[in-house]
Amino acid sequence: MNAPTAQEVEAGQAVYNKHVLAIYDLLVLGFSCRFLWKCPANKMAKKYDEFVSNNHVDVGVGTGYFLDQCNFSSDNPRIALMDLNNNALRYTSERISRYTPEVYCRNVLDPIVMTAEKFDSIGVNFLLHCLPGDFSIKGVLFDHLKNLMTPDAVIFGSTILQDGVSPNYLAKRLMNFYNKKGVFSNRHDSAEALKKELDARFTKISIEVVGCVALFSARNY
Ligand SMILES: C[S@@+](CC[C@H](N)C(=O)[O-])C[C@H]1O[C@@H](n2cnc3c(N)ncnc32)[C@H](O)[C@@H]1O
Repeated sequence: MNAPTAQEVEAGQAVYNKHVLAIYDLLVLGFSCRFLWKCPANKMAKKYDEFVSNNHVDVGVGTGYFLDQCNFSSDNPRIALMDLNNNALRYTSERISRYTPEVYCRNVLDPIVMTAEKFDSIGVNFLLHCLPGDFSIKGVLFDHLKNLMTPDAVIFGSTILQDGVSPNYLAKRLMNFYNKKGVFSNRHDSAEALKKELDARFTKISIEVVGCVALFSARNY
């Protein structure tokens, strides 16, 4: 598979305008997660609470739902937001303005240049299925994000799979539609392929498949 074009990268994030962001929590995290992807959002929220630290960057922020809901053990955590889409960054930074987040507009498929301090946790929830290419191509994001991690840091998140899972009729239709539009690129995404990319870069990994969703975490200690 060839490296993604700029147009394909653009398609994976362009849909997140202010109208889509306004209904995203209800439609995607409410309806689609429960009835189509068969992994209710509270499963992801639990993982967020399990792994989030007080020195955290969320990558592919969308509406910032999980950041807003999760429990930090400090009243004053360091939170950073990273996304290619400025609407999503704006929406989320307003939503969690109580944490005065750092904001970084970056494409995770390109090397990430940053002079800021490294992070103890990185959340990549529902990001990978939006990135073009199969895991052997988009897995490069783990190289880029690994550079932002302190030695004891964890990277965790979830992604919707299409290969090796059994989506129901509506889920299959919607996934095919999103793949045609370039909103999703997950036709060849399987838990095995994800594991291969994580194994190549981290020593301790975990993947749990719930419905069509792989919930994963990875670290190097
Ligand atoms: C499906 S939303 C996920 C939102 C949120 N994390 C959640 O779990 O609900 C995907 C997010 O990834 C961002 N995104 C897509 N492609 C990206 C890229 N190449 N680099 C950085 N962010 C990207 C989109 O702009 C969007 O905010």
